[in-house]
Amino acid sequence: MNFSQVAQACQESPMRKYHPYAVKAKEAGKKVYHLNIGQPDIATPPAFFDAVKGFHEEVVAYAASPGMPVLVDAICNYYKGIGIDYAPANVLITTGGSEALHIAMTCILDPGDELIVPQPYYPNYFTFARQTGAVVKPITTTPENGYHYAEEALLESVVTDKTRAILLSNPGNPCGTVLTKDEMRMIADFAKKHDLWIIADEVYREFVYGGEDLMSFGEFEDVADRVILIDSVSKRFSACGARIGCMISKNKELMAHALKFCQARLSVATLDQIASAALYGVDADYFEKVRAEYKLRRDTVYSKLQQIPGVVCSCPGGAFYIMAKLPVDDAEKFQLWLLENFEDNGDTVMFSPGKCFYATPGMGLSEIRIAYILKQKDLERAMDLLALGIEAYNKQNQ
Ligand SMILES: Cc1ncc(COP(=O)(O)O)c(C=O)c1O
Repeated sequence: MNFSQVAQACQESPMRKYHPYAVKAKEAGKKVYHLNIGQPDIATPPAFFDAVKGFHEEVVAYAASPGMPVLVDAICNYYKGIGIDYAPANVLITTGGSEALHIAMTCILDPGDELIVPQPYYPNYFTFARQTGAVVKPITTTPENGYHYAEEALLESVVTDKTRAILLSNPGNPCGTVLTKDEMRMIADFAKKHDLWIIADEVYREFVYGGEDLMSFGEFEDVADRVILIDSVSKRFSACGARIGCMISKNKELMAHALKFCQARLSVATLDQIASAALYGVDADYFEKVRAEYKLRRDTVYSKLQQIPGVVCSCPGGAFYIMAKLPVDDAEKFQLWLLENFEDNGDTVMFSPGKCFYATPGMGLSEIRIAYILKQKDLERAMDLLALGIEAYNKQNQ
């Protein structure tokens, strides 16, 4: 049977592809500390479940293709709260930020077009870009330079006449990079100069640990017609399984094209939209508490990593991930070895090997992404397991 070139060019998700090995390790009686996936253990606010219990319709009907007004209005209100005016027509509800990314790229990219993305990046960017036939043009960042990419000369070095957009996550997955307002302005000016779209993936907006104000590319009115925001309740409210996100833009033509894809997939889950609308009503101090918890976790992981000889990393300013270069020959081999051959008192640990976070072959081989989504005590144990694992792996490899 024939398979498309697109399917063959895409890779499995590095966050999910080792799952069968974890299942086997668990069947063998091991406890696996999961730091491989951005699925937080923070409780979803009760408002979500209350809204589900309060649903008394006789039929779970299709929702409107652009999204249910109760959720669209809640999102517009949330943006008003951070000083950005969006009308309901600027918002399309999607099945997670993932579908918003897919639809946005489908609307603006043709085969052969180029998309600038700082690497390491969120690996699904590559998959969605490849589905359109576009080519990812990476801006390479390194742990040694703190994964810094917001420099005009760097951006200029990758732009060509085929470039259509710049895609970034801010705060960033997997590096935790947080752009300053000046850097965002520079990127907006760069996009204007080269007539590019800005796909601003801001699903981690609330997770910044330096006391800075919440920021969004939606603030720059002069580029409003080229900004596409990607947003989601998954991380914001620890509601990953709700699968509710949105694509936001003031560009009417873009939204008209995007609506065609929303109509083709009919609608987003009705009950999850209702329950997600209720999430936007959480108390004002909700984010303060969650932010403090993640900051504690970030500090725990970072200080533990610094104590492991040979590890190179930089302190992430936001999101809930850290990239780290390990003193091992191959992080993927090391990951499999940890699951199949290693244990300490019945425990082992799992993360995401780094190479799939890069478009450039050969990069990221000894890097890993750690998602600091467990409680502090579990994180400490997981980091100790990582240190023990590195030592034992390198000993048996000599
Ligand atoms: C940077 C980034 N964007 C988008 C997503 C998509 O999330 P969801 O589809 O759950 O909204 C994720 C999920 O991990 C992510 O890390």
